[in-house]
Amino acid sequence: MSILWDVKTFDSLPNTQDFITNRAVDEGALEGRVAHALVQGAGRGRHGREWVSQEGNLFFSFLLRPSCGFNEIGQLALVIGVAIGRALQKYLDRPDILRLKWPNDILLEGQKCAGILIETQGAKGGALDWVCVGIGVNVEVAPDDQAACLKEYSAQLIILDELRDDILTEVSKQYMLWREDGFEEVSSVWLDMAHEKGALAKVCIGENVIQGLFAGIDGQGAMLLHDTQSNELRTITAGDVYLEDAYAAGN
Ligand code: BTN
Repeated sequence: MSILWDVKTFDSLPNTQDFITNRAVDEGALEGRVAHALVQGAGRGRHGREWVSQEGNLFFSFLLRPSCGFNEIGQLALVIGVAIGRALQKYLDRPDILRLKWPNDILLEGQKCAGILIETQGAKGGALDWVCVGIGVNVEVAPDDQAACLKEYSAQLIILDELRDDILTEVSKQYMLWREDGFEEVSSVWLDMAHEKGALAKVCIGENVIQGLFAGIDGQGAMLLHDTQSNELRTITAGDVYLEDAYAAGN
């Protein structure tokens, strides 16, 4: 089984996320509807931040209708991270420079190259009606000096449509593995592609800052942090993570 992708490409959209969550959902679109825009006028990142969306980079969103509850969305974020990581590694001259950073970032030599935005709507009874996954990959342009672009680390010619399809193929594969076999396998692959356990991490949750050591992820995809002040193991379900290991300085 795999997801049947139905891709619509646009020269420009305000953003692909709104296209899926408003238009596609209103039309009753099936799982697998994809909107890809060459440029976004109002790209959105996590926590209401702007996602700078210049031509040459990759911006697309797609609709999933997993038969799962809201409590499994943390797992899905990591499933998608593994899929993007696997797809991008095929383009890299040195695949080992790629790291996943909890919850939703893909880093190259510690600098962000791709991000994931997940939005959901519940149905009655606690199940999910739909999930919209938005993916932005810096391919040609790094929007600021904290960011990386794929082209800089690849000797290959990168065609945006091909890269999008490579990511979608991996998403389908990882998503099916997750639905059929559960989270354990994906979770162990995610950990292999993530920063080392024991890495110094600072987590900002609103105004609160927690400092500690990265201790892995739990069965729901939440991050485990050994809080070095209180000496407690904390479960982090939301927040911005800043790492201080060799490959992740500044992130
Ligand atoms: C993040 O903050 O890291 C998530 C960035 C997600 C950006 C993508 S680009 C395609 C889709 N459309 C948007 O406006 N946002 C997502």
